[in-house]
Amino acid sequence: VGNFNNKEDFLFNQVYDYVANRIDRNEWKEHEKLPSIRQLAQELNIHRLTVLKGYQLLKNDNRIYVKDKVGYFVESKGKGIIDDYSETPPFFHINSLSDIQQTPVEYNFSQALIDPNLLPNQYLSDYVKKVFDLYPKVLATYSHVQGDEELRETLTSYFIQQYKAFLHPNQLIILSGSQQGIHLISQTFIKPRDTVLLEKPSYSAAIDIFKSRGARIITVDITPDGYDLNQIEQYMRTYKPRLFYLNPTFHNPTGYTIPTDQRKELVQLAEQYQCLLVEDDPYHDIYFDMKPPQPVYTFDASSNVIYLRSFCKYISPGLRVAVMICPTTLIDSLISVKALTDNGAPLLNQKIFLHYFLSPRLQQHLDKLRIALQIRKEIMERELAHSDWHWNSPHGGLNLWIKVPEYLSTEPLLYQTLMNSISFVPGSFFDPDKNLPAWMRLSYSYTNEANLQKGMRKLIQSISSTNR
Ligand SMILES: Cc1ncc(COP(=O)(O)O)c(C=O)c1O
Repeated sequence: VGNFNNKEDFLFNQVYDYVANRIDRNEWKEHEKLPSIRQLAQELNIHRLTVLKGYQLLKNDNRIYVKDKVGYFVESKGKGIIDDYSETPPFFHINSLSDIQQTPVEYNFSQALIDPNLLPNQYLSDYVKKVFDLYPKVLATYSHVQGDEELRETLTSYFIQQYKAFLHPNQLIILSGSQQGIHLISQTFIKPRDTVLLEKPSYSAAIDIFKSRGARIITVDITPDGYDLNQIEQYMRTYKPRLFYLNPTFHNPTGYTIPTDQRKELVQLAEQYQCLLVEDDPYHDIYFDMKPPQPVYTFDASSNVIYLRSFCKYISPGLRVAVMICPTTLIDSLISVKALTDNGAPLLNQKIFLHYFLSPRLQQHLDKLRIALQIRKEIMERELAHSDWHWNSPHGGLNLWIKVPEYLSTEPLLYQTLMNSISFVPGSFFDPDKNLPAWMRLSYSYTNEANLQKGMRKLIQSISSTNR
């Protein structure tokens, strides 16, 4: 039954044993109905996909069988012998988002990453040479814990020039990716059982980070029109959250953007209820027709917003360079945690990034990239127009957030599409409550144009042929 050599394998192996033991002990008898996937997931406190995977293995071993739309049942005794592998569907290890993204497929709609062919690889390698000429001892030196001073000064001038806000280089921390920023913030400000507000849906790594810290999570709805500020105010008043983690611009996974008036009101609510806002903004520069609204942090006059801007996505995911802008009252504790984490981001990466950031090539690259991504988005949308699925066309970002008819559930559909060499991410991965069964995220940024069209046709065909 496969190789159980990591934690996720171990989990669905446990599901397998849990069910098989009960059948062996005759607690669950022939043709008796098993708990539903949802029930068992709740009971064992694991993801529904893990249970599904365990059930699939039991089915492959003829220990259980499935009746369409009814559920899983204990197989007759004597059938539990694997006699024919030729009928066994391909074996997918899907328990986490990275499992989906690492499953090799021809049509990859699960990666919210930009196709490496659209990134400035050649130019960046030119800068590596330049950086070694300029700083011959770059590899013989530590960076400042807060980040390279030259880079912090450059980014400070950039943000001042963009938003005319007062800012000092001492308010910046250079991070190894914005995900590190979310982690530092959770380590610094969150204790077990503190309340954290997250959007529903939300960036899956942020959900995992706050959950692993033991936070109590309350979800705030995000819609094409933005937030319901009454809901946010009610939650801030009732639950007194320590912070609200938000991704208000070309939000992952929905692509929605919060309008300016709501940004201003949100900052006021944060001040009134003393709730820290953590604004994560990695897609700010990936817009199609016009620039998005100013970041929330630019409206903050009371030191209640921490701003994270990653440059990974559209320059180089591998360089891992992002910046945190932080009120001076909060920064010292974050620097201490950063020092314990890695003693500062790698200097070489910061210098390579700095020289690329200062060059006119960055703007040229971004102009071309926006067009290329918009074309890919339009190809995906053109194909989707032939389906009965719903989505709101985003003005930037890398993803479409799709609603399929209610009678479908995107988790089991994923196994079906993986068998056709197509991947996407089911909605449950973005929901702290692991719901949203009729939703999925399709990324248009990773797959080239020809494959986008072919893959979308196959995907729609594969899912639309599923019976009610
Ligand atoms: C909202 C959001 N924040 C942060 C990240 C991670 O960015 P980085 O590569 O800078 O860690 C992602 C990547 O998918 C994201 O979607």
